Amino acid sequence: MVARPHGGRLVKQAAEGKKRDRLVEEAAHMPSIDITMEKAVELENIAYGVYSPLEGFLSQEDFEHCLNSMRLTSDIPWTIPVILDISEEESKKFSLSETVALKLDSTYIGLLDVEEIYDYSKSQLAEKVFKTTSHEHPGVQKILKMKEKLVGGKITLLADPPNEFQKYTLRPMEARILFKELGWKTIVAFQTRNAPHIGHEFLQKIAMSLADGVFINPVIGRKKAGDFRDEVILAAYDSLIKHYFPKNSVVLSILRYEMKYAGPREAIHHAIMRKNFGCTHIIVGRDHAGVGSYYKPYEAQEIFQLFPDLGITPLFFREFFYCRKCSGVVNERICPHEESHRVTFSGTRLRDLIMRGETPPPEFMRPEVFESIRSFSNPFIEL
Ligand code: ADX
Repeated sequence: MVARPHGGRLVKQAAEGKKRDRLVEEAAHMPSIDITMEKAVELENIAYGVYSPLEGFLSQEDFEHCLNSMRLTSDIPWTIPVILDISEEESKKFSLSETVALKLDSTYIGLLDVEEIYDYSKSQLAEKVFKTTSHEHPGVQKILKMKEKLVGGKITLLADPPNEFQKYTLRPMEARILFKELGWKTIVAFQTRNAPHIGHEFLQKIAMSLADGVFINPVIGRKKAGDFRDEVILAAYDSLIKHYFPKNSVVLSILRYEMKYAGPREAIHHAIMRKNFGCTHIIVGRDHAGVGSYYKPYEAQEIFQLFPDLGITPLFFREFFYCRKCSGVVNERICPHEESHRVTFSGTRLRDLIMRGETPPPEFMRPEVFESIRSFSNPFIEL
């Protein structure tokens, strides 16, 4: 059986057909606020059930529960607040219980039934979610740019935000249908924000040998400077799947989502989203969703102990590396050799090699995958 949606029911908050047309007309007469593409994607994720059971942006009570106990008031696990920030000025445009139109550029993208407008503390938000208030942390940097108030309430999606990767996009309901068609009952999710190196492939292949299928679900959306560009990640995966995976062993589909780099809390959030796509398991390796040295290498694994009721099973792995003595990909649990024999799968090292125009050794990255990366003049987000 594929996993049941988080909270029991897959949310659908997307208006369709005549209802949508009517709501778009009505939106023109409502107070409106402009939202960014990132927020529009949050709206989309709520509307298609990626964030089930959320039906909108968090109320103050849920927000505080999420920060303090990593659960909603209903006690359902929820670790990353899904919130909409507005300015003082915007908050004066409407009153409670009013419906507000949300605009992306000049498109009415959604409606928000305003339930609450509330204040919050940026330093508390940063400290709880990221365990730091350091201005060096990319997540904290985003919080510092947030507007001063939060608005909570149910949403309705009126238009899908533009998506240049439509052919790689499955909604949770569509993924569930596909898994059923494939006859998959155990599905392992693979979260990633990177082009695949041999270590990633190895994790996926272990999962393939344990379960019916693997759901490779790279995060597409705003990331930090130095990360791979979206189109590079997808081209690299297309190449890996074509050359190295048996037919129908994996499904590649994107997750439109802005990486938070929140380590342990984000690992739980990643698991919840993949549960909503129907996955029964999720891979959590070394420094999952980490950045710099803000989180311990296995902190994102340890946090799962607090969520025995999560409803998706994490698969934990120690760091994999290539050992020249073993002539294979191994980790400390299965390899007795000294560190000097190891080739570690370091993203920084890979970036440096590519920037210098050098080719990574085949024990680090498949040549076909590297070729697809090299076909882009600059594979990385600009610094
Ligand atoms: S992440 O931000 O999405 O976690 P990345 O795309 O590098 O970054 O990792 C995807 C998944 O693979 C994560 O679960 C991560 O912990 C795991 N992972 C990456 N490299 C290794 C490795 N060398 N050994 C074990 N797990 C790894």
